[in-house]
Amino acid sequence: MVVAALSGLPDGRAAIVATVDAFGRPVEVVLIRNGSTVRAFDARCTHRGCIVAASDSNLVCRCHYSVFDGQSGARLAGPAPSGLVELATAIVGNDVFVSL
Ligand code: FES
Repeated sequence: MVVAALSGLPDGRAAIVATVDAFGRPVEVVLIRNGSTVRAFDARCTHRGCIVAASDSNLVCRCHYSVFDGQSGARLAGPAPSGLVELATAIVGNDVFVSL
């Protein structure tokens, strides 16, 4: 599913994008662009599912203050048991596809 235009994403920083999954359910994904590549993560915190937010160079869950690395999604601090779940991506032209 196309979730964003590559040219519309900030380079080197995370962007949180609202979209829908294959069943039409609303979901939010973290997109991290580095030049012509993009990594995508489920924006739901692995603790209790709150949506993370970009904060400086990291991603923060404000429900119980878990912190995730802003490039790899790895857990850095807080009660989350693991890092954010990475999603498969593909870039075709200017379209960023994410498997949802
Ligand atoms: S839901 Fe994210 S830290 Fe608890």
